[in-house]
Amino acid sequence: MLKVAPSLLSADCANFGAEIEAVAQAGADWLHLDVMDGVFVPNITFGPPVIAGLPKPEGMDFDAHLMVHQPERVIQSFLDIEALDWISIHVESTIHLQRLLTQIREAGKRPGVVLNPSTPVETIEWVLDDVDLVLVMTVNPGFSGQSFLPSVAPKVERIKKMITKRGLEVTLQVDGGVSPTNARSLVDAGMDVCVAGSAVYGQTDYKAAIRALKEA
Ligand code: DX5
Ligand code: ZN
Repeated sequence: MLKVAPSLLSADCANFGAEIEAVAQAGADWLHLDVMDGVFVPNITFGPPVIAGLPKPEGMDFDAHLMVHQPERVIQSFLDIEALDWISIHVESTIHLQRLLTQIREAGKRPGVVLNPSTPVETIEWVLDDVDLVLVMTVNPGFSGQSFLPSVAPKVERIKKMITKRGLEVTLQVDGGVSPTNARSLVDAGMDVCVAGSAVYGQTDYKAAIRALKEA
């Protein structure tokens, strides 16, 4: 069954607590936290103190997507947040990718690796053993509400095959422009978790929006 991770970036910033509770009640499985530093991407969102202050509904996983240049500089402050279950870092953001993924795992968090649309799948071949999650970007990161890039969709299937061939249990997440229209083909390609900004928080009825993604 497809898991849905609404992205807090698209929620009402003045009411994060209520917005998190609302998607939990509406059937969301995870909460996706987009951390942007204004350097790796041309936008700035929130960081560790804000995340540490968020209320965490029972049974919901919190996943942090770090769009941060050289995340090793600030990783410890994310590792210290008890509520965070998954921490994902971009291939393009750090030189010593394997070291950082190992550090995340050794701290008791579940490490994820993220690829920008133009980044080849081969860049994660030698870290697949070091991750619990691969996140495929289907927009150029920085903003919610962008259009899904259909040219990137085949990457999901390619990565799924890499994972299956190696006999690994790695969760495959897709982020950027995911909607009920493209969810079916992404699940067929191997998507386990979809990130949904506009497709959930951009809708008035969160329950219907999450159901639409899961039923697609
Ligand atoms: C983009 C972020 C996404 C974004 C998703 O940089 O990583 O998580 O919030 O929003 P939608 O689903 O609207 O593309
Ligand atoms: Zn994201």
